[in-house]
Amino acid sequence: MGYIRFDNVSLTFPGAARSAVDGCSVDIQKGQLVVILGPSGCGKTTLLKMVNRLYEPTSGEIFLNETPIHRIPPTKLRQQIGYVIQQSGLFPHMTVAQNVGVVPKLLGWSKQKITLRVDELLDLIGLLPQDYRDRYPAQLSGGQQQRIGLARALAADPNVMLMDEPFGAIDAITRTTLQDEILRLQRQLKKTILFVSHDVEEALRLADKILVMKAGKIVQYDTPFQILTSPTSDFVQDLLGTDDMVRQLGILRVDTAMTAIARDPQSFDTHNGQPTIDRQESLRQALSLILKTGSERLTVVDNGTAIGQLTLAHIRQSAHPN
Ligand SMILES: Nc1ncnc2c1ncn2[C@@H]1O[C@H](COP(=O)(O)OP(=O)(O)OP(=O)(O)O)[C@@H](O)[C@H]1O
Ligand SMILES: [Mg+2]
Repeated sequence: MGYIRFDNVSLTFPGAARSAVDGCSVDIQKGQLVVILGPSGCGKTTLLKMVNRLYEPTSGEIFLNETPIHRIPPTKLRQQIGYVIQQSGLFPHMTVAQNVGVVPKLLGWSKQKITLRVDELLDLIGLLPQDYRDRYPAQLSGGQQQRIGLARALAADPNVMLMDEPFGAIDAITRTTLQDEILRLQRQLKKTILFVSHDVEEALRLADKILVMKAGKIVQYDTPFQILTSPTSDFVQDLLGTDDMVRQLGILRVDTAMTAIARDPQSFDTHNGQPTIDRQESLRQALSLILKTGSERLTVVDNGTAIGQLTLAHIRQSAHPN
């Protein structure tokens, strides 16, 4: 059973002709980053808002760690769930420190503990505490505001993060930086994240799994690699635009295509001088390393530890799925 489970969940807004979310069932595993991808109006935000009970399903049930969430009081539920939205939602009349400290303050933490936590979080998101803690949101760039929104959502160390197009209003370069930061943070913090996007490249870069929605329904739920190489419908194929493979090799992460080392690392011959590549690099970088070194296989590493192997066949499969 997933850490977050949707069991046949539907929501029809009053007076609406059709359901905004229509019979969704899916298990989200603990520690995974799942990107909800789909066109405007397909129900992504609605699905997300049911998880922290901003909306209640018309039918079906959502479970958090096996507890039906309708049994958890909304305020208590929201303390366990960080929420980040597109316009950062920072309180304009509060400083950065006050914004980040909102939830800890609600939870009755001491002033000193809050101050320590705020500084720790500013460090974590790469903003110098002494420079930023006393600023107001209007004195920050859009990207910095989104980082503070992220810090605020992380403040009480929730297990679950809901992120609704958090980088939607950010320019492309800053957006890539923020995506890298999310990947770095996620490796460190291992939250269970539901991340809404309608940007295919963002989904491919960030996701452990992509949940594709169309008109309120889940049409495919799979790894980026599988979604790209084995779309189950023309809709998903069109959405992903699988014709531009070179571009996508540049986006797909090595760790989504590799063969992972199973239980027995000894079964992998990784100490024979095989070239190594970081799990977060792209398949295009893997391909150039293979061509440059002439080695058929690469060892995929995470902080120096071998976690998988990648061969030309893996790359070829993602370049020519059919
Ligand atoms: N509060 C509401 N009352 C009535 N209808 C709503 C409400 N919120 C959303 N809807 C409708 O429900 C459907 C799904 O909306 P939702 O906001 O979940 O889409 P979305 O996938 O997040 O779209 P976008 O990518 O544009 O943010 C849409 O048809 C929308 O008009
Ligand atoms: Mg939305």
